[in-house]
Amino acid sequence: MPQQFDLVVVANRLPVAADQDAEGATSWTRSPGGLVSALEPVLRKEHAVWVGWSGRPAPDPYSTEDLGLELEPIPHDIGPCALSEVELSREDIEGFYEGFCNSTIWPLYHDAIATPVYHRHQWEPYVEINRRFAERVAELAQEGATVWVHDYQLQLVPGMLRERRPDLRIGFFLHIPFPPIELFLQLPWRREVMQGLLGADLVGFHTPGGAANFLALTRRLLELDPDDTGVDVVDVLRAGDRRRVTVGAFPISIDTVEYDAIARTVEAQDAAVEIREKLGNPKHVLLGVDRLDYTKGIDVRLKAVSELLADGSITPGDAVFVQIASPSRENVEDYQRLRDEIELMIGRAMGDHGDIGAPPIQYLHQPLSREELVAFYVAADVMLVTPYRDGMNLVAKEYVASRYDDSGALVLSEFAGAAVELTDSFLVNPYDADGVKRAILAAMNSDPDELRARMRAMRAQVFDHDVNRWASSFLTALDRSEYSR
Ligand code: ADP
Ligand code: F6P
Repeated sequence: MPQQFDLVVVANRLPVAADQDAEGATSWTRSPGGLVSALEPVLRKEHAVWVGWSGRPAPDPYSTEDLGLELEPIPHDIGPCALSEVELSREDIEGFYEGFCNSTIWPLYHDAIATPVYHRHQWEPYVEINRRFAERVAELAQEGATVWVHDYQLQLVPGMLRERRPDLRIGFFLHIPFPPIELFLQLPWRREVMQGLLGADLVGFHTPGGAANFLALTRRLLELDPDDTGVDVVDVLRAGDRRRVTVGAFPISIDTVEYDAIARTVEAQDAAVEIREKLGNPKHVLLGVDRLDYTKGIDVRLKAVSELLADGSITPGDAVFVQIASPSRENVEDYQRLRDEIELMIGRAMGDHGDIGAPPIQYLHQPLSREELVAFYVAADVMLVTPYRDGMNLVAKEYVASRYDDSGALVLSEFAGAAVELTDSFLVNPYDADGVKRAILAAMNSDPDELRARMRAMRAQVFDHDVNRWASSFLTALDRSEYSR
């Protein structure tokens, strides 16, 4: 019998990911994405186990080539808490992660910016891998434990877990937007996904809009009778007992104090000065930081910056735009196409508007450490966050937390969850090219006192609503949710 825990956190990603070099030696890095950035500091303070995947392929149990191969175990001391790896073979990764998760659910839930595909041969691995996660959690959870299931990769886990362990208190949090009814209804397996989610006692979203979409769907699709805070469901496992599923908005956040503290260090400040020097000490440094994802609107800002260069509103040497993009989902076709498009746009803009020794755009396609990223946040006068759709967008909050002297300006898409809270940013509609250009110029040229007042208000918001508050408000609501046992 494995060691059991009172708090089990389950997410597709573990906080650390394995990197294998050409000789097969494994090194461990922080996993990409906002989910890990947010949960990692919270779990440092809890006695919990984190169930997830390490990002590497496991030997295929049905392949003769892989016979006898085993994964190198994860070192004991590298996670914020105990870690339990769910193994995925190459085939699992293709069908589940690259397939159903990132070619169906991800685009569908992000306004179908890329066209979702609906393949029956990818739904099957989604069910199978969700079952694998649910079985692992069922083994690791103590009697009556709290289980916190995360994100779109594991929407069936709450229902599967309730079947196996009705004694558990189950919370589910979605880290990406929950789509409007009309879009969700495209999904051939819409009932199964809704029923999976309704296995939880508490279902949380970033915004009230996501929660409202979900509640409306319970009426439209399942003919239930939701109110503003949840919905009663009939529990087939308990001879038709009614069970309450609470539904609400819990906007995720960052470890604000940590970002502020890193930004105040001499090392961060020296590194920021060095970055500006290397850029040729321009008057304005503009910055974008994202996973290289088509939802992030990297093309939106590149187009805006290129047009501003073309019409002479900004000049190379006077302003430099730095885009840092971390590699993401590189085997998925839409991501491969996006990389080509972005790199083509950057090349064109540099060729058309650059000068020898004064490139107007700098581009890094690399993951950076937290300290390196904060140095860029400190160096940047204007942060460009222009997603077409984003659950929250933690980068916007990290930038604000790093501006310890209240300087700097944030240009933020209305369609990022963060726009609900960061109303003192320069809000833009990413589909309105002229509006984005106007906002960038306003952020570059506004009166410093006005910029400081805006930044102070945004900093107050992210200090007051940090990731600890997010986690404790979710766990408290889960604790208070009507107990189904
Ligand atoms: P998502 O979860 O969709 O990736 P978020 O903006 O919410 O988007 O979170 C992204 C996280 O990844 C942030 O914590 C950010 O600091 C981190 N990140 C983004 N780009 C890089 C990069 N190039 N190197 C390292 N971390 C990055
Ligand atoms: O926050 C959204 C999210 O999709 C997480 O679920 C995910 O772990 C992260 O971004 C990064 O994506 P991936 O795990 O596919 O590299």
